[in-house]
Amino acid sequence: MTKSKTKTLFICQSCGAKRPKWEGRCGDCGEWNTYVEELEMPTSSNRSWSIQSKGQVLSLDQTWEDLKVARHKTGIFELDRVLGGGLVPGSFILLGGDPGIGKSTLLIQAANSLAEKQNLSVLYVSAEESINQTGLRAKRLGLTCSKVKLASESQIPLLIDIVEEEKPNVLIVDSIQTFFLPEIPSAPGSVTQVRECAARLMSLAKNKSISVFVIGHVNKEGNIAGPKVLEHMVDTVLSFEGDSQNQFRLLRSLKNRFGPTHELGVFSMEGEGLKEVSNPSELFLQEKKESAVGSAIFSSLEGTRPLLCEIQALVSNTPMPMPRRTSLGIDVNRVHLISAVIGKKLPIHFYQSDIYVNVVGGLKIIEPAVDLALATALISSEKNKKISSQSCFLGEIGLTGEIRAVSQIEVRIKEGIKLGFKNFYVPLANKKHLQKSKLGEDVNLVYLSDISEIPAKVF
Ligand code: TYD
Ligand code: MG
Repeated sequence: MTKSKTKTLFICQSCGAKRPKWEGRCGDCGEWNTYVEELEMPTSSNRSWSIQSKGQVLSLDQTWEDLKVARHKTGIFELDRVLGGGLVPGSFILLGGDPGIGKSTLLIQAANSLAEKQNLSVLYVSAEESINQTGLRAKRLGLTCSKVKLASESQIPLLIDIVEEEKPNVLIVDSIQTFFLPEIPSAPGSVTQVRECAARLMSLAKNKSISVFVIGHVNKEGNIAGPKVLEHMVDTVLSFEGDSQNQFRLLRSLKNRFGPTHELGVFSMEGEGLKEVSNPSELFLQEKKESAVGSAIFSSLEGTRPLLCEIQALVSNTPMPMPRRTSLGIDVNRVHLISAVIGKKLPIHFYQSDIYVNVVGGLKIIEPAVDLALATALISSEKNKKISSQSCFLGEIGLTGEIRAVSQIEVRIKEGIKLGFKNFYVPLANKKHLQKSKLGEDVNLVYLSDISEIPAKVF
């Protein structure tokens, strides 16, 4: 009897780790239930997708000259900003996001705009929708440029044939989890398939200088399904976020070899597709008009961009022995921490109260500079005292109740001034810096050094 040469391996679908036997929990990334049996691939196939530079050597200034002329503006300003000033030819970009968030819509709009404004040829290949379905969507959005070509294909070798024939400047692949290489026995979407397909597309990008956008689905934890391996491979990882109940969509760059990360692009999803939002602070505050109990304004900084947002808190008595702590948009541990500091430093106690915290508009805030706004909203709700609608709060709170300095405070305050805010509650530690800056006559800066000063100075 001849022994079968194919060997199977168990591969973690989260991090790509390999094991000879199934494991319940991945020893490398700690995820549960992620091992799937796949056929082992001969390692020699890896060579097929390496970058071929044909031994060419360039000096640093020569490559720099190349790069300067090269960036293409996509014509969608918010997308350009997140890409670091436009699209670099030959770059490989991964766009991740929840299903239905608008990834396909964003890229078909970008395709049309690149073709129309930059005169580039764009090929949009979807394995999820037929040509007619993609075409119908484009038509409904009013996109009609003849330099955008649509195709529907799911096998990578056939896709490469189409690319060889059409020779596009930009290729859009919707989505990486539905494409496959027939020689690999694993199912589409498995780590091996995703990695190999991406590798083929990357060699296409690098060797033929085609910019490739790849759409990737995210799994329930919010990571791009399949894998970290993919994130290592690509030049840029963009994430498209938002609440599907809400019209706002945020585009972030999580990794960018050609520009800064943590830049933010803001869109709103409307009947006629995605619209750029050039002044997001206005949008996030549009329903905030009057002074209210439990609502404080914070000026956050996303990349280089200040963004005003409203932090709401509701404190209500509960007969339950275990009060609830619910938070949307701010880490609930931060809420625990701030309420504990308030309990220690002020005659206010939350152990018989439920606490609900919400950031309006579906924004997520990870900066600790939000602490002061959060604390003020909590105290306001507990004491039932209004916070002036013209006040804005900036400051990080330490465990001893001290209010710590905030980075780039000037930019944040200026954004507030632009939107008509007059009172800024800021850390005393920032005073030296702020005294030197010119903020205008009618700006009222209130310096705080400790959380215990909040009731006297704010209400
Ligand atoms: P889509 O781009 O298909 O999402 P993804 O590719 O990320 O899965 O967008 C689908 C959603 O967007 C759908 O629920 C409807 C909404 N939408 C609009 O509200 N207006 C529009 O003009 C379009 C095209 C979609
Ligand atoms: Mg889609």
